[in-house]
Amino acid sequence: MSDDLLRRIRVHGSVPSHIAIIMDGNGRWARGRALPRPLGHHAGMGAVREVIQGCLDAQVGVLSLFAFSQENWQRPAGEIDALMSLLEEYIAREVDNLREKRVSVRILGELDRLAPGARQAVDRVMAETAHGTELALNLCISYSSRAEITRAARALAEDAAAGRLDPSDIDEEAVARRLYTAPWPDPDLLIRTSGEMRISNFLLWQLAYAELYVTPVLWPDFTRRHLFEAILEFQRRERRFGRVTV
Ligand code: FPP
Repeated sequence: MSDDLLRRIRVHGSVPSHIAIIMDGNGRWARGRALPRPLGHHAGMGAVREVIQGCLDAQVGVLSLFAFSQENWQRPAGEIDALMSLLEEYIAREVDNLREKRVSVRILGELDRLAPGARQAVDRVMAETAHGTELALNLCISYSSRAEITRAARALAEDAAAGRLDPSDIDEEAVARRLYTAPWPDPDLLIRTSGEMRISNFLLWQLAYAELYVTPVLWPDFTRRHLFEAILEFQRRERRFGRVTV
């Protein structure tokens, strides 16, 4: 069934270079089944596998997943512990598979706030997958877009104060080079699950011209097929980047 969609994607030809996803609705998925919230996050790991495989199949170059925001540190301690354990479990289970599929993983965010076990796990997955060439997977953890932009502004100010940079040379390129996402093109497509119409402090700079796709599907139910439907919808959109159609 989803292979039929994949064929249609290939016929069209133009696939997003970079897809960003706000994975939302784990809590509601769990509540709907009278389960504790952490079990919703656990089920969300399956959808992470689905979209990674879908991006490999469709030959999307970069996938950025919003896994844990800086604002999420305000959740109850038990839920934060469960999410951090899940991250360690995910990495322990998947690192070999990711390396074999040539996925290179980067973690974007304030890693210094992670507990030692989670920090070791993320350092391990980045080191062990560094040579992947098929898909760049960005896991945004302890990530806030405003904090990322602030960090870039600070780096520019430090370079200017030290005489390494003339303030008149500060252009959009100079800012973009100091963001976590410097090595990759901006996302072409932003997917948000669970129906919420918000960007939630995710990649605010980088999403300037992204196509937005919001689906009511809760994250744990999101499959490769849903990803392909989003890509097909993207292929139907007309992107003008502020210009007019001739
Ligand atoms: C939002 O749902 C989701 C999160 C805060 C966590 C996302 C984490 C995963 C999908 C787990 C696996 C991922 C990795 C990379 C290990 P919510 O809790 O805000 O849901 P709600 O809005 O329904 O309450």
